Amino acid sequence: MADQPSGAEAPRRFLFLDASARVGGNSEQLARLAAEASLPPGAEQQWLRLADHPLPPFQDLRHTGDGGYPEPAGHERLLLEATIAATDLVFVAPLYWYSLPTAAKLYLDHWSAWLRVPGLDFQARMRGGTLWGVTALAGGDDKAEPLIGTLRLTAEYIGMRWGGVLLGNGTRPGDVLRDERALVAAKSFFAD
Ligand SMILES: Cc1cc2nc3c(=O)[nH]c(=O)nc-3n(C[C@H](O)[C@H](O)[C@H](O)COP(=O)(O)O)c2cc1C
Repeated sequence: MADQPSGAEAPRRFLFLDASARVGGNSEQLARLAAEASLPPGAEQQWLRLADHPLPPFQDLRHTGDGGYPEPAGHERLLLEATIAATDLVFVAPLYWYSLPTAAKLYLDHWSAWLRVPGLDFQARMRGGTLWGVTALAGGDDKAEPLIGTLRLTAEYIGMRWGGVLLGNGTRPGDVLRDERALVAAKSFFAD
């Protein structure tokens, strides 16, 4: 993750990681609204669907051999490079069973490997960036503490700033566009 810019010339780079198991869902629609309305001037954006870049099952090799992990390859390499190139990492993640979708959780499990790839300095490169969440959920009760806590505590662990979560309500794709509270919050979400 690139350092946060200190001068006006260095643009912020937002990586949107869409973890939904459907294309064009509520989380994505809400995230796109928020990006259009509130990204800082000049910010760059990259959108990746985790389903388009499936990761292998995570293997815990911490106590095997020398505890180092091999150089990531394939989809894992692509996601790693996009991650460390970003100043801002946005989980576009619907609420599944109160928590993160499997694809997002698997991606985070791979951070445990990336932290141990010799010479990568993953944590140092992530430190100083900002982690955000955009989440659609069907229940009107905002019972999303496990998802929010996972993202917030992960940011804290790695040394990233916590940007917060933008919540939107909806079941069928497009429902979120009728959630007035979400639409108002999206207008300034990334600017706050
Ligand atoms: C596997 C699965 C689990 C879900 N779990 C919850 C849940 O715990 N709480 C909730 O409010 N909605 C839950 N939902 C509903 C979705 O969060 C909701 O439909 C949301 O709009 C999906 O976002 P998307 O369109 O971005 O994929 C679940 C949906 C699925 C498919």
